[in-house]
Amino acid sequence: MIGKQVGVGEAPLQKQTQCWRVKESKEGKSLRDHPGIQKAAAMIREGRLVAFPTETVYGLGADATSGEAVTSIFQAKGRPSDNPLIVHIAGADQLDELVSEVPSTGKQLIRRFWPGPLTVILRHRGTVAPPVTAGLDTLGVRVPSHPVALALLREAQRPVAAPSANRSGKPSPTQAEHVWYDLSGRIDALLDGGPTGVGVESTVVDVTREVPVLLRPGGVTLDMIRETVGEIRVDPGIRREGRAPRSPGMKYRHYAPRGELWVVGGSGKDQMQKVQALADQARREGRKVGILTTDEHREAYRAEWVFSCGRRSEPETVARGLYGCLRRFDEVGAEWIVAEAFPPTGVFFSVMNRLMKAAEGQVLSSGEERKA
Ligand code: TXA
Ligand code: MG
Repeated sequence: MIGKQVGVGEAPLQKQTQCWRVKESKEGKSLRDHPGIQKAAAMIREGRLVAFPTETVYGLGADATSGEAVTSIFQAKGRPSDNPLIVHIAGADQLDELVSEVPSTGKQLIRRFWPGPLTVILRHRGTVAPPVTAGLDTLGVRVPSHPVALALLREAQRPVAAPSANRSGKPSPTQAEHVWYDLSGRIDALLDGGPTGVGVESTVVDVTREVPVLLRPGGVTLDMIRETVGEIRVDPGIRREGRAPRSPGMKYRHYAPRGELWVVGGSGKDQMQKVQALADQARREGRKVGILTTDEHREAYRAEWVFSCGRRSEPETVARGLYGCLRRFDEVGAEWIVAEAFPPTGVFFSVMNRLMKAAEGQVLSSGEERKA
């Protein structure tokens, strides 16, 4: 279900969106001096909206201390106002301004994973504008590792609130082109840093609890967190689709292509036969059908479109390719998409979380039949 939008309308197409290509120079010249970074940082300080690459997905940034600037993020995306934003900072030394206390588990995780794809939930001090936290007494914070993101944050000298830079409900953008497609005319600037690396969003961990709680799986895996802090609980909302998750954003339909998406469980030949059978059934019903698979199985399928999002033997490539693949099905006009499930371990746990959200729980285990 798409979330009800509470008091936040959508921004009309009225802005002129500037775009700068920003790449690290071979001569080791600091990115902070790049004219695109300079201009984008000035825009952040003026309360305007700048999309930028992170190592996970592109973010849509604004000055987290300005209520007006932050409100315009929600408008540009059409995002429900009860879904809080993650604040991005250039280094852990900026945490003191934002949060009251960092428990020892938080410190351990920060030491190991920052800069990188980990967001920690901490109690805040009221220094960010209220719309950032959607009224919660906690705040999500992270230090991204992407050089363009870091240069922008250092130059802007502000904490930057940034959700993924997609229209609400769509797959997160892993290329500047995705941001442009979704948000040009609604935001002030876009820093194009090429394709992002991780491909799924950061892992969100609530460290305000005695035992840390995983609220959203992401680029840092459960095993990596366990190795660092010992025990971690998984929010029941992640495993059981029916229950409201504690990370507010996880309750909305998300990451979804326009076509109807079905995920097929199981493994090996069994799973592949079921995928093909489901695709054939939909084609017979007159639908334009796509199959979402990996390099290993691409040749084996027959459908109007068969897209591979990576190599099953290298889960990071699947995470990197997933959202771009879902967007390609929109581009070609697929009405019905059948996807292979992955075993829910390592980074595949995050991939499956996103696929299940995109499919709104439409999953077939390999023995089942879809009712026509
Ligand atoms: O990788 C990422 O995290 C990307 C890049 C741009 O940094 N950002 C991102 O933001 O994915 P967004 O807004 O698309 O997702 C933020 C998630 C949502 O599920 C939100 O509900 C949750 O973090 N969140 C934010 N603040 C929270 C809080 N105080 N308590 C619980 N969950 C929170
Ligand atoms: Mg998002």
